[in-house]
Amino acid sequence: MNRAMACLAALVGVVLVGAAPRLIGADATPATDAAEIAVLKTRLAELEKRVPAPELGHQMLELQIRHDRLWWAGAAGNRNLAYFMVGELGEALHGIEESNGDAPELQPEKLSVVMPSIMDPAIRGVQQALEKKDPAAFAKAFDRLSASCNACHKVAGVDFLHIQRPRTPLLDNLRYEPDAAR
Ligand code: HEC
Repeated sequence: MNRAMACLAALVGVVLVGAAPRLIGADATPATDAAEIAVLKTRLAELEKRVPAPELGHQMLELQIRHDRLWWAGAAGNRNLAYFMVGELGEALHGIEESNGDAPELQPEKLSVVMPSIMDPAIRGVQQALEKKDPAAFAKAFDRLSASCNACHKVAGVDFLHIQRPRTPLLDNLRYEPDAAR
């Protein structure tokens, strides 16, 4: 920026700062308020466009971890831990719906619509199976959960990403066996 432009920028700054109290102050007329709000809204929309949406693939990695831990907690008969894990999985899903509701990977479908309609009943099913204290019902509900993950992968055209029951725990630094079993 050359000197003349710098001076001009400083001058504009001074004028704007000087004008601000008048524009947003108590004596502002409603018409001025409305104009000011319209300008700010446009500016906010421009800024929001610049904030990149989180990467869906990264968000999915969290789901993969929680899906794995849920299985091992349920398989060990640790209902408290399994209940906690399915709750966390549900929260992670809702977080994705809020932060990435228009994910391009799902277009023309809308993630904020598809995800809850597929996943909410499956999450509830796992919770109900845990409430029943029935290991067979848990295994069945868990498989239904995995099938729901896969149903969306199919909608999104990525059905080569097939989610299944884990065979070995992803991490083993969290104890799965319930206290009573020790
Ligand atoms: C709303 C649809 C939808 C649902 C529901 C969904 N996924 Fe995904 N998942 C996707 C899409 C789309 C991709 C590909 C993302 C990309 O292109 O990076 C993906 C990718 C993945 C990946 C690969 C991530 C990577 O980059 O390595 C894993 C793992 C995964 N999903 C796990 C799950 C699990 C576990 C569930 C269920 C608990 C689940 N997903 C539910 C849409 C979904």
